Amino acid sequence: MRGKLVVGNWKMYGGLAANAELLAGLVAGCKPRADRRVAVCVPFPYLAQARDVLSGSAIAWGAQDVSAHPPGPYTGDVAGSMIAEFGGRFVIVGHSERRQAHGESDVLVAAKAKAALATGLTPIVCVGETLAERDAGSWQAVVSRQFDAVSAALGRETALIVLAYEPVWAIGTGRTATPAQAQEVHAFLRRQLARTGAESVQVLYGGSVKAANAASLFAQADVDGGLVGGASLLATEFLAIADA
Ligand code: PGA
Repeated sequence: MRGKLVVGNWKMYGGLAANAELLAGLVAGCKPRADRRVAVCVPFPYLAQARDVLSGSAIAWGAQDVSAHPPGPYTGDVAGSMIAEFGGRFVIVGHSERRQAHGESDVLVAAKAKAALATGLTPIVCVGETLAERDAGSWQAVVSRQFDAVSAALGRETALIVLAYEPVWAIGTGRTATPAQAQEVHAFLRRQLARTGAESVQVLYGGSVKAANAASLFAQADVDGGLVGGASLLATEFLAIADA
């Protein structure tokens, strides 16, 4: 049985004081539950702060990107082993903001997922189509292409990832996929996963998830939780989503 997973993606927001308040609110309000896990993916400089506050709590932590390489001469990169050393469990890879703003290719995203697994991290691999691609009727081709690159690189290890469907048109726009739209894509991804023996992988939905829409999205058969951006910066809102 796949449990639920709700992950906060802080993006490039935060500061020591604001994080302290947010993390304290999360620790105070998040009760451990056997059927769901909760995590936050923070900017690299705040990994130590997340570790210090969240250790021993019901909330795991991680990062939002990882180098495709082991430690070496890669200025500006952060190795998976470094994230793991700070207790990180998860790392987001292939977020559309990185694919778009940093030109990350499907091949690079796959290499990052592989590097994450090699260092004991769980990659949360993001896939999703733009509005133009959805309007052109090509979402299946887009998410298959993105997923296939990862499964080709990982093989049987595909079973160890978390997948996140994040339609680009729903990210930070306030426009959420309807539960039926999300379920349609998640069921499609589940079939792709099944072909590689990875049917039990959790598939999260991301894109303007809030407390008001989380329950109806998470009630869908193939939606195993959420990757939450803006709403993860408010403790009460994020906890309400995690409880939905
Ligand atoms: P959003 O972002 O919840 O602010 O739409 C989701 C994400 O980008 O992971």
